[in-house]
Parts: sequence; structure tokens; C-alpha cells
Amino acid sequence: MSNQLDKVRELIELRTQARLGGGEKAIEKQHAQGKYTARERITMLVDEGSFEELDMFVEHRCTNFGMEKKKYLGDGVVTGYGTIEGRLVYLFAQDFTVIGGSLSETMAKKICKVMDLAMMMGAPIVGLNDSGGARIQEGINALAGYAEIFQRNILASGVVPQISGIFGPCAGGAVYSPALTDFTIMAKGMSYMFLTGPKVVKTVTGEDVTQEQLGGADVHATRSGVTHFAVDNGNEGITLIRRLLSYLPQNNLEEAPIKTTNDPIDRLEDSLNEIIPDSPNKPYDMYEVIMAIVDDSEFLEVHSSYAKNIIVGFARFNGRSVGIVANQPKTLAGVLDINASRKAARFVRFCDAFNIPIVTLVDVPGFLPGTGQEYGGVIVHGAKLLYAYGEATVPKVTVTLRKSYGGAHIVMSCKQLRGDMNYAWPTAEIAVMGAVGAVEVLYAKEAKDAENPAKILAEKEMEYTKTFANPYNAAKYGYIDDVIEPRNTRFRIIRALQQLSTKKQINPPKKHDNLPL
Ligand code: HXC
Repeated sequence: MSNQLDKVRELIELRTQARLGGGEKAIEKQHAQGKYTARERITMLVDEGSFEELDMFVEHRCTNFGMEKKKYLGDGVVTGYGTIEGRLVYLFAQDFTVIGGSLSETMAKKICKVMDLAMMMGAPIVGLNDSGGARIQEGINALAGYAEIFQRNILASGVVPQISGIFGPCAGGAVYSPALTDFTIMAKGMSYMFLTGPKVVKTVTGEDVTQEQLGGADVHATRSGVTHFAVDNGNEGITLIRRLLSYLPQNNLEEAPIKTTNDPIDRLEDSLNEIIPDSPNKPYDMYEVIMAIVDDSEFLEVHSSYAKNIIVGFARFNGRSVGIVANQPKTLAGVLDINASRKAARFVRFCDAFNIPIVTLVDVPGFLPGTGQEYGGVIVHGAKLLYAYGEATVPKVTVTLRKSYGGAHIVMSCKQLRGDMNYAWPTAEIAVMGAVGAVEVLYAKEAKDAENPAKILAEKEMEYTKTFANPYNAAKYGYIDDVIEPRNTRFRIIRALQQLSTKKQINPPKKHDNLPL
């Protein structure tokens, strides 16, 4: 046997060893918990045979607590690049079978390397997290490693899409990397995110809480809004990452890929001519409108369980990606509140950063009043959405279906916030406030002195409704570009987007903005 062949054999053995991560027993334990290993996850995520692994021979350098005897090739994370639908993507997947996927100095270096490559190449970075947090034996070096990753998350923000799949524990300061990325996906019963675990919570506050209650997928999808997606299992999570990327460009200088469709651009949707109930207080389902107008009824909703009074997500019109923002009359009458404003503002800013046009469907009675909202700072949070729309330079098409009142009218991509094409259905009501409230303010005194106050108020309500509860008053001033037939909404949006596809608008140069945080 030649010397060279021996060396090749040694390489193959080392590779086999590296691919076993923490060993067969640890892999069995991972599987027994219903979890895939890091390599299995990557194989499922990327196009078949496309993954190129880097840094397979990296080992940690820690000698504290006997760690020099506990070394694994690759050191707890699998990194590299591959393709998804033929497009380049950089990846890291923490390997829980190796010292609980805990983050060492060298593991951080591996992650930073692929992040740097993603930035240089202008390609998305996907992180699959499954880790016990900072490697305790490494102390400050592990913390420094996290900080190196966070710094790169910050610099990559708005340059390349960053997606975090959480497929196991993600605790302590480690949660800040996913929090800095654009989208986070958690799997129910498998993923946990919290700054301090149940034991510390018990010690500090005396509160008894399980991991699931503290930071499970449901909690973060419905209450905190920390995760954008909660899926049922690991397979779904991986499929979702592929689907999400299909709507996104590779970086902030490119456009999202076009998906060809047989859905006719001039498809008329007769049901929309009858969808608005006669009573202004009766809800209808905004999802029906979205599904009726987008290509092939395909809509990838983001934050579907959080602040359901506003709907955000990705769809396509004539094959091109758009971000949809829509008030949902079925939940809290579609009112804007703190959570809805935060949710939509972040989504609008993401779309703007990545050249994805925004289509806004408006049916909003106003901002939610009351001390709960005011004490929570609704002024600042509402301003975030206002700010996001006002700074956005991507094509913006707005369709007002029914109510559009007061401050909420302005916030929801009105003409003066540089809405490019603002359409309204004939059922639109664009005014300072609703008829009942307006008449109370204007005629309370007159009604009090009158013999029949109810009659006066009813008359004035009718007068107000006639004057303002329509789209034509706004159209008269050019604040609405056209009043459109509801069934033709798809076609009108597509035509508007085609027209706006060469839009160029540049904000004044600045170091960065001062968004009301
Ligand atoms: C070193 C770790 C580790 C860690 C797990 N392991 N977490 N080793 N540092 N942070 C090791 C375990 O010792 C064990 O090694 C192996 O990984 C598998 O862990 P198990 O405990 O057997 O797994 P499981 O029962 O599934 O429990 C998972 C777990 C638990 C809930 C994540 O391991 C755990 O509580 N770990 C510590 C979590 C933590 O407090 N991390 C620090 C957070 S502070 P053996 O050899 O037995 O197989 C932090 C600060 C970051 O991260 C700040 C950034 C700014």
C-alpha cells in the first residue's frame, strides 16, 4: 500500500468520525427525543448533494475541567454552504450531540466564518440552533464568541436575509442572535427560548414555571411575538425555511425570484363585490380578500398567531413577491394597537430593506383607546408603523376596503406617506372619525338642549355619513388615485406594481435614522 493511499484512508476515517458528531449513543438520544441531528437537518434543508462542509477538523482549545480529553472533530457545529432551489445559501447547524451544542470560542469562529462569506457573496444565512448555551468550561471566551456572532448579525441586518430555526434549547444571551435576525422559527414541544431558565426564575421571583410556559413555541408565537413562526415539528420547520426563502432576494441589491404562474392577471373575483356587510359594525374575513387576489391563493403568513388584528405575510402578484399588510376586521374590529403596530412596522421595514413591494389592504376603525394602551406607550409604538411606511421607498400600493379613520388612516400607507397608488373600493369610508363619535363631539350640546336628542343625533349622523363615509371626498383631493370595482382588485394591483417596477426614490443621506424604539 502506498503512503499516499494510507493518507487518503486516514482522511476518510477522520471524515467518518467527524460525521458522527458526539457519537452513536448521543445521536440515539437525539432521535429518541424526536429531534434530528445537525447534519440530518442540513441534508433536509438544502438541494440534494449541494452541501459543502467547512471546518470539519476544527477542535476546541479549552483545557479547563479536563476538556483537553473531551474533543470532537468539528466542535459542536456543522457549517458550510449549499443551494436551496438552486440559490446559494450559507448555513450553520449546532450539533447537540457534541457537548450539548454548547458554544465554544472555536465554534463561534466557525459560525463567524460562514457569516462573513455570506456577506461577501451576498447570500442568505440560515442558522439552525440547538444548544445548551455558552460552553461553561470556556468562560469568557464563549461569551466573546457570542458577541462576535451578534456583531455580524447586526452588520448583516438589511444586507442579506438572516433566518433562525430553533430546534432545541436556546437559552441565556444566546437568544439574542435569533432576535437580531429577520425571521425566527420554533417547533412546538421542541424549541425553547428564554433569557433565564425555570430554575433561575424560581430562585429570583419565586415563580413556578415550566420550560414550555416560559419560552415554548406557543408562548413566543402568541404572547411575546419573539418567534415569527411556530411549526408542529422539525420537518415542517425545515420546509418552511425553504418556502420563506423563495419569497426573498439573495441580498439588498437584488430582486426576489419570479415564480411563473398560470393565474390570469385579469382574473375577476365576483365574490369581492359582495364581501362587505351592510352594517359597518359587522366583520368579514380579510383572509378571503387576500386569498382571492394573490397568485394561486398562496400566502405565507408571518406572525399568524400574534396581534391577529393585523395580518402580514408574503404573496405574489404575477409571479413577483410582495409583502401584504392588512387590517383584520374579524379580530378587535381591525383596530391598531401596540402589538399590531410593532408587528406590522417590523414587517414593512423588512420588505423595504429587501426591495419587496408592499400592498396594504385597509379596514381600520382607528387606534385602540384606553389607559392600557397609553401606559404601554402606544404613541411610540404606533409611530413605528407610521415611520416604517414613511421611510419605505419600495413600491407601495394601498387599497382601502371600508373604514379608514383618523390617525390610523394616515399610518396605513396613506398618500402623504408616499403611498404610490392609493385605491379605494366604493364601500370605503375615509374620514377623521366614525359618524357616531363625530356627531357626539359636534352636536352633544345641541342634542342636550333639544326636545328629542336622539332624533337630532340620528339626523346629524346621516348627514355626516353622507358627507364623509365614502371614498369620493378623498378622491376629490387626489388623496385616492381611483375608486375601483372590488372584483377587479387583483388586476389593478398588478398593473400598479408593473408601473412601479422601475420606481427610484432615495431618502436623504444620514448615518442612520432614529426610529422611535
Ligand atoms: C457545557 C453543556 C452545556 C453548556 C449542556 N452541556 N449544556 N456543556 N456547557 N452550556 C452538556 C451536558 O453537560 C451534557 O454533557 C451534554 O451537554 C448534554 O446535555 P444534557 O444536560 O444531558 O441534555 P438535556 O438533558 O437534554 O438538557 C439540555 C439542557 C441542559 C436543558 C440544555 O443541558 C442545560 O440546562 N444546560 C445548561 C444550560 C445553561 O444554563 N447554559 C448557560 C446559559 S448562559 P455529557 O458529557 O453529560 O453528555 C449563556 C450565556 C450566553 O449561555 C451569553 C451570551 C451573551
